[in-house]
Amino acid sequence: MNPAAIETTNVVKRYPRTTALNGVSLRVEQGEFFGLLGPNGAGKTTLISIVAGLARATSGTACVLGHDVAADYRAARRALGVVPQELVFDPFFTVRETLRIQSGYFGLRHNDAWIDELLENLALTAKADTNMRALSGGMKRRVLVAQALVHRPPVIVLDEPTAGVDVELRQTLWRFIRRLNREGHTIVLTTHYLEEAQELCGRIAMLKAGRVVALDSTRALLAGLEGVRMSFRLTGELPVALAGKLAERDGVRIALRLSGAEEVESALAALRVAGAKIDDLEVGHADLEDVFLQLTSDRRSLEPPPPRAGESFLPSPASAGEGQGVRASGSPTGQPA
Ligand SMILES: Nc1ncnc2c1ncn2[C@@H]1O[C@H](COP(=O)(O)OP(=O)(O)OP(=O)(O)O)[C@@H](O)[C@H]1O
Ligand SMILES: [Mg+2]
Repeated sequence: MNPAAIETTNVVKRYPRTTALNGVSLRVEQGEFFGLLGPNGAGKTTLISIVAGLARATSGTACVLGHDVAADYRAARRALGVVPQELVFDPFFTVRETLRIQSGYFGLRHNDAWIDELLENLALTAKADTNMRALSGGMKRRVLVAQALVHRPPVIVLDEPTAGVDVELRQTLWRFIRRLNREGHTIVLTTHYLEEAQELCGRIAMLKAGRVVALDSTRALLAGLEGVRMSFRLTGELPVALAGKLAERDGVRIALRLSGAEEVESALAALRVAGAKIDDLEVGHADLEDVFLQLTSDRRSLEPPPPRAGESFLPSPASAGEGQGVRASGSPTGQPA
């Protein structure tokens, strides 16, 4: 069998005050476009740091293309390109110098043709000779992406590459990353933009409080959710009868998850009877955001929906009891300390 692009086995990471990862086992196959999702503090960046050999697991193992990240660090590192979440750069070098220096770390001396291609694909050509400190935040992020790709790694991990990035660059970036994926590169992506993940990722793992709470194809995760999502702005109180349908509340904006069109009618009737005024009504299919909220909000995760035949909504019992995390975890989703 081909080695997995990334395989982690029971990875635990404890900090003095927190257990950031509590037994994470994942296998990302070569050629996948894989999403790693979860609320703030779930452990995504910690897991990526361990895979990249930047942090050491308290226990458990991680391999990149079969190379153990601790025992076989150099080979594992060479197989991997990581776009970090934090903007770290040396302000004194130009964009091109930064990319040449990074090439040098991998012993690549004549890499300019590929560097030019990266600059072009990330719309950075005009900034090639600009000092890093003079770039805007979004442009620095593009350089981080280029830096991660400078040695043409077969496995590419992007930790929130589109945070704070404008629409145009997102599209440019995704076009390029998709192309790399078509050419055989494995992509692992974390993002808080769930529509991005839904569109791009073939499979998705959701982390919560250091555990995998769902791991399945995007299609199966979405199929586990029937019904429609109805959202509106509400003036007045939400009728008690609808409280159980609440999917999300953001100020006066309310989203309900309903079983189908008939429930939309009865919900509207309940609102009318209660004298509640609504506007800006939207009705659409349940989407990845609903899956995410259901799995990561404490209230909902106490009662996971029963998996339907042929679907593994939650990790199978084979994955080291991770499914228990859904019920056992009573802690808040956890902001980074
Ligand atoms: N160096 C560190 N020392 C102590 N605790 C840490 C350290 N790094 C991370 N943590 C803690 O580990 C947990 C997981 O953090 P991590 O950064 O992996 O989350 P994340 O899923 O990437 O979140 P976000 O979506 O905000 O980026 C958090 O509780 C965080 O406070
Ligand atoms: Mg993070």
